[in-house]
Amino acid sequence: MTFLVQQHADATDLHELRRRILRNNDPAISVHDSRDLDDDAIHLSIVRDELVVVCGSLYSSHSPLDDAVASYQLRYMAADESVRGSGGGRALLERAGDIVRTRGVEHLWANARDSALGFYLATGWTTVSGSEHLSKETQLPHTVVVKSLRKK
Ligand SMILES: CC(C)(COP(=O)(O)OP(=O)(O)OC[C@H]1O[C@@H](n2cnc3c(N)ncnc32)[C@H](O)[C@@H]1OP(=O)(O)O)[C@@H](O)C(=O)NCCC(=O)NCCS
Repeated sequence: MTFLVQQHADATDLHELRRRILRNNDPAISVHDSRDLDDDAIHLSIVRDELVVVCGSLYSSHSPLDDAVASYQLRYMAADESVRGSGGGRALLERAGDIVRTRGVEHLWANARDSALGFYLATGWTTVSGSEHLSKETQLPHTVVVKSLRKK
């Protein structure tokens, strides 16, 4: 399946999918991130039938491995159940890597839900040893994952 990954100026386009997939569709929980409006924030999606079916946002941030390395944090990575497992998440991450590489970024990192670790491992990320923790927002087990964007 081919996916067209779009970039959004406004993160609110992604809020419905963020809330539905990542916050149990709870209308009482805010899915706004304080960094959403940063000039260097990146909001990506895949749209099908005018609905956002895959989303992810990236924010300029220190690498958990090395403060001196230019890095972005990936957050709110989600795919609608109707498209899961068909390569949309991978396509979005590839586009994210292409965009941030042009900004001189060497690391992507994320707090990965343990239930999604297989996704990150399948797409070239590695876990940070000893980083296992419970998310303050969801109370779900997470592990820090990092992807090096350096050319091999
Ligand atoms: C994690 C998620 C975004 C992946 O999106 P997706 O579009 O289904 O992923 P893809 O189809 O591009 O999968 C890429 C690879 O990861 C694997 N993968 C995807 N999700 C996985 C999971 N939860 N566990 C193990 N492997 C997974 C796929 O099998 C595929 O492997 P392959 O290329 O070797 O066949 C999606 O499953 C999701 O929204 N999950 C619920 C929300 C969530 O946990 N988000 C992450 C928060 S950190």
